[in-house]
Amino acid sequence: MARQRHLWRRKKARLIFSRFDRCLTPPEVAAATYDVPDSPLKLTSYANVFSQQKLDVGTRFFLQNFPDVGAAHRIADVGCGNGALGIFAAWRNPAVAVTFLDESYLALASAKASFVSNLLPNIAHFIAADTFSGVDEQEAREKFDIVLCNPPFHEGSKIHTDIAVRMFAGAARHLVSNGELYVIGNRHLGYHEILKKHFHQVVLTASNAKFVIIQAAKPRRQ
Ligand SMILES: C[S@@+](CC[C@H](N)C(=O)[O-])C[C@H]1O[C@@H](n2cnc3c(N)ncnc32)[C@H](O)[C@@H]1O
Repeated sequence: MARQRHLWRRKKARLIFSRFDRCLTPPEVAAATYDVPDSPLKLTSYANVFSQQKLDVGTRFFLQNFPDVGAAHRIADVGCGNGALGIFAAWRNPAVAVTFLDESYLALASAKASFVSNLLPNIAHFIAADTFSGVDEQEAREKFDIVLCNPPFHEGSKIHTDIAVRMFAGAARHLVSNGELYVIGNRHLGYHEILKKHFHQVVLTASNAKFVIIQAAKPRRQ
């Protein structure tokens, strides 16, 4: 009987093998395109990408209070989604090279489609990465002047800041010594305090009833 129960349990176990399905290339997946206010830019988003149908209110607030990127040579947009932040930076500074990082292939495909459709002259890299994990050694040596970040903060209905924390720590490692990280977040998430663990200087640059934009500078080297 015990043996039978054991077999029964074994039967219930399932092995699931996944593979990249070549049929699911982005052009065959439904895409939405919309305008970015106060700019000539358009964004393209494939299914399930953050702010797929219209610009997220937080992202919009970030674009309305965008940092001066005029002197930057290299910028990273970590958790880029459809590329809203990095593309806006590229438009503001045609000479800056932008690295788009996201764990989602459809997000990266969206960022690339958005970048291409806006005919931007910038150099751009699109890297599938868990935070900064995909930035190769050569890129890591040539650090970023600015990192832009609108981190994910929930999975389903559960709020968590784990990925944001790893993005901030990664930014501190991948910024030049006088580089700057700009983060947007909901007020209640307490990013200010988390950022102080990774940066010596943490300043609020803009806020409204719902969001804060924070500049973090002078990365602590850990
Ligand atoms: C709040 S959305 C921001 C998207 C875009 N930057 C914007 O402002 O509209 C967060 C993005 O982080 C990405 N993301 C989630 N976990 C990640 C991880 N571990 N590494 C890199 N990107 C991640 C998600 O796929 C999503 O595109």
